[in-house]
Amino acid sequence: MALIRPVVARGILRTMKMSSGSRMPLIAGHKLLYECNLRCKMCPFWRREDEKLLDIDEEVKMMESLKRAGVSFLGFEGGEPLLRNDIGEILNESFRRFHTSMVTNGWLLKQKIRSISDDLNYLFVSLDGIGDVHDRLRGVQGSFRKAVEGIETARDYVHMAISSTITKENMDQATDLVNLSVKLGVSINFQIAYDYSTADPMSPERNKLRDTIALLRDYKIRGYPVLNSKEYFDALLNSWYGTEKWICKPWLTVNIDPSGRIVQPCYVLNEYEGTEKVWEVDLRKMWNSYNWEPYESCNKCALACYLEPSLFSWKNPSMVKERIIDSMVSYITGGLS
Ligand SMILES: C[S@@+](CC[C@H](N)C(=O)[O-])C[C@H]1O[C@@H](n2cnc3c(N)ncnc32)[C@H](O)[C@@H]1O
Ligand code: SF4
Ligand code: SF4
Repeated sequence: MALIRPVVARGILRTMKMSSGSRMPLIAGHKLLYECNLRCKMCPFWRREDEKLLDIDEEVKMMESLKRAGVSFLGFEGGEPLLRNDIGEILNESFRRFHTSMVTNGWLLKQKIRSISDDLNYLFVSLDGIGDVHDRLRGVQGSFRKAVEGIETARDYVHMAISSTITKENMDQATDLVNLSVKLGVSINFQIAYDYSTADPMSPERNKLRDTIALLRDYKIRGYPVLNSKEYFDALLNSWYGTEKWICKPWLTVNIDPSGRIVQPCYVLNEYEGTEKVWEVDLRKMWNSYNWEPYESCNKCALACYLEPSLFSWKNPSMVKERIIDSMVSYITGGLS
């Protein structure tokens, strides 16, 4: 159950040390398909039609382009990635090149984990509430039971965590979810639902959300297995309820859609619409000729895959220890959504 290999650690150090003059993506997220077996209210992706998906040769071509551009972490998601019949082959190719993670709704996990665990550094299973709360949000009865069964099987094979999306319907379940993660013996990562124009508006009411963020920050400080950094919660409290903005660095993360197209500037602002195929451009050149400045003060979303790397600072010894030395960088690919 490898967490971070030396080759990946060197990549992180290289990218994190880059001066602001040169941009390269450290983390990549890739949707393998939009199709899904669940029907989550807050999710726009299952509502989209898949075009022709990348075959294994194209997946490898994509990976080679990402590697050349400086990417060290590749996180797979969708839609539901376990619906891909070639998921084992794809993860295997990724594991040879990157620190590899995946986020799944867990429905198919119990039957598939043994065939994929050797090629995963970290696995996230989405759980948004206890029992019916989860099932209602996910639109399919029985999805809570399946996800828990999946976690109970997978935790013996791979490092893993729960990934929880806070919406207006599960805000009061934060404590129950933290307790569930303790009971299941896995970590938990939280993020806040964003309102995409093509999904049901499920983001929590800002005033009520403040208490939940403060509560989760408190669990983090008290040593509960919350993967988000303390700084993640601080950034939200200081910006959404104060005047201190965090500087967003969306260029640290690149997302690639199911057809191999680059999503720029970030997952949220263009609602995950891809442009050019990643192997048809010079990604480094593209990254360094783009004007990222307008996005620095955006502060619109709380997606961990952008916010956590944006907050990283060499000047904060506890962050360096938590994320590099303790290899806890895995959280960054658990927030791809
Ligand atoms: C899009 S799903 C894809 C992987 C897999 N189907 C799953 O649910 O884990 C990845 C993550 O995005 C989260 N998500 C879905 N809709 C979201 C939204 N509107 N805002 C923030 N996160 C969202 C899900 O809860 C899930 O944890
Ligand atoms: S969040 Fe994941 S499980 Fe839910 S509909 Fe979207 S892709 Fe499917
Ligand atoms: S805060 Fe979110 S929406 Fe805004 S630029 Fe950063 S990643 Fe994109």
